[in-house]
Amino acid sequence: MADRVRVGIVGGGRIADLNVIGWRQHPQAEVAAICDVAEATRQARAEEWGCRPVASLDDLLADDTIDAVEILTPHHLHRDQAIAALEAGKHVSLQKPPTMSLADYDAVAAAATAARAAHGSVFKVYENFMFYPPHRLAERLIAEGEIGQPLSVRIVTGGGRMGTGQGWDVPAASNAWRLDPALCGGGMMTFDHGFHCFQMGRQFVPDPVETVHAFINVIELGNGMQIDAPALISWRYAGAMARYGSWEIVASLDLDVTSRYYVSDDRIEVRGERGIVWVNQCSGRLLEEPPVVLYRDGEVRAFHRVEWDWAASFRDATFDFIDAILEGRESQLTVAEGRATLAFALAAQVSAREHREVAIAELG
Ligand SMILES: NC(=O)c1ccc[n+]([C@@H]2O[C@H](COP(=O)([O-])OP(=O)(O)OC[C@H]3O[C@@H](n4cnc5c(N)ncnc54)[C@H](O)[C@@H]3O)[C@@H](O)[C@H]2O)c1
Repeated sequence: MADRVRVGIVGGGRIADLNVIGWRQHPQAEVAAICDVAEATRQARAEEWGCRPVASLDDLLADDTIDAVEILTPHHLHRDQAIAALEAGKHVSLQKPPTMSLADYDAVAAAATAARAAHGSVFKVYENFMFYPPHRLAERLIAEGEIGQPLSVRIVTGGGRMGTGQGWDVPAASNAWRLDPALCGGGMMTFDHGFHCFQMGRQFVPDPVETVHAFINVIELGNGMQIDAPALISWRYAGAMARYGSWEIVASLDLDVTSRYYVSDDRIEVRGERGIVWVNQCSGRLLEEPPVVLYRDGEVRAFHRVEWDWAASFRDATFDFIDAILEGRESQLTVAEGRATLAFALAAQVSAREHREVAIAELG
């Protein structure tokens, strides 16, 4: 079994700032190379991370000293890059959304299964919200029965004013490919960001999601920019008892959202038979509220001490991948879990397009 993992990062753009943290902090991991088609990005990241710049994925995959590949590129590239890396016998972490269609996903999954059998490769669909410590705490409280059986999951995402010095500077190039459905696979809110929220919709209720209905509006922001909001997406969980979840996106274009990262305010409320749990923040930090609050039996517990910086979710998601390689186990999301979340996300896109409720099973 490996005692050290050397990674080649493919794509050194905006999110690489957070994906690299776990690689640099884990005592048994090392960033060996950065592969990016943009020479300036490649050189800057190589200098910043103290690693080797590589211009082509083929050259990276031919390097036998590299054990793992972390794919952080635009979505239309994910399928082919993941398959090539798996066929080269590497461990692969593939950023969400893993692919733009289920057919593409199944091709990656087949390569992952073959690589596991042939080389012991670990394949991870990289979704970090599930590793965000407040989400983990909420999940634990629910699993321990604090709210009884969960009956409803409500997620709200509030977009904020961009370009005011609040939050990250997101380069135009990072948004450009997201505006083209052929490169992004769906809207930048409901599909790109959505993968996280659909995972959260699945996280707190043990039964699968069966049907989805989505209203998705598009606002033209000028200069070719658009945002797929407001949107209201609802779903029903399987089981005899009716239980629903919902995700609402509100585009408050003049709202200041305090953030160290994207100006997006995500909140979750899970109501159960005898209690309620709220997660009050994620990448945004709009109000100085306790990250997690639990109501039960007439009493409120506020969890102030849980680590709340959004970057922690990336560190822990990356640690999960590294530890899975070191321990020879599966990493979250597994092949099957990644497919379930992707199918949920795609069903919402179909529902909005066709103005009807969609059964996830229809998608195959
Ligand atoms: N987990 C999260 O919260 C989160 C947040 C943002 C983005 N993401 C995901 O991360 C991925 C990248 O997003 P981003 O915002 O960093 O995008 P970005 O546009 O900022 O960066 C993409 C990088 O890929 C490089 N690139 C393009 N084609 C390439 C190729 N063929 N080979 C190598 N490099 C290539 C580009 O030059 C660029 O540096 C996407 O899958 C996105 O959905 C995840």
